[in-house]
Order: sequence, then structure tokens, then C-alpha cells
Amino acid sequence: MIELSGISKVYGIDRLVHALRRIDLKVGAGEYVALMGPSGSGKSTLMNIIGCLDRPTAGTYLLEGGTVSTMDDDQLAQVRNRMAGFVFQTFNLLARQTAERNVELPLIYRGVPGPERQRLAMEVLERVGLTEWAMHQPNQLSGGQQQRVAIARALVGRPRFLLADEPTGNLDSRSGQEVMVLFEELNREGMAVMLVTHDERIAHHAGRIIKLLDGRVVSDELNPAPLDATAELERIREQAHTAASAGAGTAAAGMADPPGMADTRGGPV
Ligand SMILES: Nc1ncnc2c1ncn2[C@@H]1O[C@H](COP(=O)(O)OP(=O)(O)OP(=O)(O)O)[C@@H](O)[C@H]1O
Ligand SMILES: [Mg+2]
Repeated sequence: MIELSGISKVYGIDRLVHALRRIDLKVGAGEYVALMGPSGSGKSTLMNIIGCLDRPTAGTYLLEGGTVSTMDDDQLAQVRNRMAGFVFQTFNLLARQTAERNVELPLIYRGVPGPERQRLAMEVLERVGLTEWAMHQPNQLSGGQQQRVAIARALVGRPRFLLADEPTGNLDSRSGQEVMVLFEELNREGMAVMLVTHDERIAHHAGRIIKLLDGRVVSDELNPAPLDATAELERIREQAHTAASAGAGTAAAGMADPPGMADTRGGPV
């Protein structure tokens, strides 16, 4: 599905930064890939090129057989809107819009009529367990809920693959794990998922782990025994429960949500 050959990205005019150096990479439909590497190694640059947010300086990018690397801006924007869903570390939601409006956005760009947009947005919000929070604005939601709105927004256009750049980086471990459960379900349903993480444990949910260093792929390995996200979430809940009942207080109990939220959302489904 995704095929990069000799992809390089150079930033700057006077002082050149070689963010990516001749990357060759194939990712098939339905794969689950974790991308790791130190800060500055080129992970976000690579994700942005794969997601058609940015263009390589050199090399060829084939997406579903079409040559993306030579497309003009309009063509690129169309391919991006149709093919890729994005999730970022900082959620990137519009602060003054409801969750539902945020989720509708990609459909507005596509020219989908209002009532249909709302129907589709509510459908994906239900999918991520946020039906009751659809009319809330981001600042009325916990970090985990905001990230699930962002995932709903990424999914609403039925993309072929999901790109997530440190999606759990700003979340407590339980909210982060809820995100991982969603990714696992989506991948089981056939969606290709590619995520950037600094966290080995998060990376080990993926079936393939790629490591970058100085803009090069230094390791690309299959993970023979991916972690089961649902079992991990259960483990984290157990730990919190044990800590709470041992008198350690509620601080460790993963209480990222304001009081009263836990019973209404029922977790991601
Ligand atoms: N728009 C830009 N202009 C100039 N240089 C850039 C730009 N974006 C990235 N770079 C440089 O390219 C290199 C790779 O950056 P990139 O953001 O891809 O790294 P990363 O692996 O995602 O790092 P992090 O883990 O900190 O997010 C870095 O040296 C960075 O400074
Ligand atoms: Mg980055």
C-alpha cells in the first residue's frame, strides 16, 4: 500500500538539515507499525511524508500504486483527505467548537452535506465511547477524552490508514491504554496503523517495530508477540484498584477524568 524508495528530506537553505536519508520502506494494508528513535531522528518528518502533509526532497513515494511524490498541492490534499487519518500528541482540536463539530471537519472539506456530516460524526463518537460528550468543548473534556475525539475525527472519513504521532505522550497510563485498545480494534478490522512512540511498552503493541537514527532506518523487525491492549488495560485497572484499596489514595487510581465521568462512558468499544 505504502512504498517509499530512496526518500530524503532536507530542511533549510544555508544550514541544511538532513531529516531523512534515502529511506526505503514498504507498509502493507492492515499492518500495525511502531516507529521509534531518539528526538530529531526524523520520525515526524517520515509520518508527515507518508500522510501527504509534506513532500520529500528526493525519492519516490507510491501510495496504492499512485505516485504521490510528483503530485501538486491540490492533488496531495485530496489524497491526504481520502487516505490518511492523523492523531497528534497535543490532540489539535479546535478549542471553541464542540467535539461533534471537531469530528465533522474532514467532511466539511470533502463537501459532505450538514445532516450527513452530523450523522457520521455521531457514529464515530459512539465508536470511541463519547456519545454523551458530543456537545462539549475540548476544555470540558479530559486528555483521554480529547484524544478520543481526535481519533474520531481521524476516522470519520474512513481513511485507509491511521498515523499517530506520540498519541499517548500527553496521557496518563490508563487513558493512553484506552487509546491503544482503540488502535488494536481498528487494526483488527483491517485498518493500517502507524504510530510514533518513545515508550517501548507502547511500541510492543505493534506487529512491527521500526527504529530510526539520524534519518535512517537502523532496525525493522517483526514483533512475534504483540501485547494485548485490552489485557494491558485490565492490568492497569487492577493495579490502580489494588493501590486504592491498599490505602494509597485515589491519586494512583487513574482518575484522569473529572468525577462522574467514569460511569457514563463505559470505556472505548
Ligand atoms: N520545518 C522544519 N524546518 C527545519 N528543520 C526541521 C523542520 N522539521 C524538522 N526539522 C529537523 O529535522 C530533523 C528531524 O525532525 P523530526 O521532527 O522529524 O524528528 P522526530 O524524530 O520527530 O523528533 P521528536 O522525537 O523530538 O519529535 C530535526 O533535526 C529537526 O530539527
Ligand atoms: Mg516528532
